Amino acid sequence: MRMYDIIMKKRNGGALSEEEIQFFVKGYTRGEIPDYQAAALMMAIYFQHMTKAETNALTMAMMHSGDVLDLSAIEGIKVDKHSTGGVGDKTSLAVIPMVAACGVRVAKMSGRGLGHTGGTVDKLESFPGFSTAITGQQFVDNVNRIGIAIMGQTADLAPADKKLYALRDVTATVDNMSLIASSIMSKKLAAGTDAIVLDVKTGSGAFMKKEEDSYALAQEMVDIGKAAGKEVIAVISDMDQPLGRAVGNALEVKEAIATLRGEGPEDFVELSLMLGSQMLLAGGKAQTEKEAKQQLQQVIADGSALRKLAEFVAAQGGDSAAVYDTELLPKAKLVLPVPAPQSGYIQHIACDEIGMCSLLLGGGRETKESAIDLSVGLVLEKKVGDSVEEGEPLAWLHANDENQAAAARERFLAACQIGETAPAKGDIIKHIIR
Ligand code: URA
Repeated sequence: MRMYDIIMKKRNGGALSEEEIQFFVKGYTRGEIPDYQAAALMMAIYFQHMTKAETNALTMAMMHSGDVLDLSAIEGIKVDKHSTGGVGDKTSLAVIPMVAACGVRVAKMSGRGLGHTGGTVDKLESFPGFSTAITGQQFVDNVNRIGIAIMGQTADLAPADKKLYALRDVTATVDNMSLIASSIMSKKLAAGTDAIVLDVKTGSGAFMKKEEDSYALAQEMVDIGKAAGKEVIAVISDMDQPLGRAVGNALEVKEAIATLRGEGPEDFVELSLMLGSQMLLAGGKAQTEKEAKQQLQQVIADGSALRKLAEFVAAQGGDSAAVYDTELLPKAKLVLPVPAPQSGYIQHIACDEIGMCSLLLGGGRETKESAIDLSVGLVLEKKVGDSVEEGEPLAWLHANDENQAAAARERFLAACQIGETAPAKGDIIKHIIR
């Protein structure tokens, strides 16, 4: 078999066989197939798409490209959560401590930022000393002891996806349904939990911009999970504007902490409670959504969710003092307003462009090797449907460089549309697929 023929077949619209997909995944993982051929295949898949059978074969090949974790040493139902990626999406930081405080065991594998979206691992590293580079044994021990562990994708777990994910990030080949479904599900299946709650984003800040594509992606992942004998629930949620108000690593951590204190922004709280409820249902801790929501509200009100976050941060080497004093999180030197150029109502915020603003400030990666600045980002003062007066701040930029701030301000203004009439506010939760 030759990689050249596989690329050509896909470029011409053919369906790859299981053997061809395995040949590619094994060869790429071992370093025998170079990045440029893998990138060419990703681009061919991007344009020609994959059938369900090809997507399943790619998922299974990537899942088995490394270890498949055995979590049988953890008692009870192990639940994982994953988002398809969004702007200002800090749900894991709030939901996981809430759910663990209710007694569900969360064993999660997280990734770093991808394209204009942020990653949980980067955000968590805002806690000085925090590391997701823990061993399989520590992972199991921590879940048994405190109910939560988050591991970065190690070299041993779905290594094919790890390499491909980074390659797709810098070759504009992320937003393809089969590639996203196989990427997410290969590592979720390799991570060995019993149930997986997926947050599938839809809208201008999501990889899937159209609602019907997001539904199809959600269904595809639920089907892959089902075929593998797992309980998979997908919540389709809005990403047509940033989630909550904060975008940027440490700023998002701060907002998640505020949420655990009962002071979170409305849309973010609603989504967190919905995802958390699905995790409690999957973990067998509640029988109905209503009951689950009440339990989550209770652990916020009594402070146990916030204490669980502190416990988790400390267990993975982080400074948990920052949970109680967010001034200890990385802070940018400059905090500058983006004044509204006119009065009116916010009609639309091009969400992916807001992600790009954070990237321009240094908060995201431009190449596989880029370092990111955890302190920078932006905090929205106004969201879609809000009224604004000329000169009032639309947002605050947190920057370490005046020139970067100027570029981000310009981009922000171009992304934010102001008009005369108030638009209807959309729902944050669109649909649930079980
Ligand atoms: N998240 C993933 O894990 N993989 C993708 O391809 C996109 C989002």
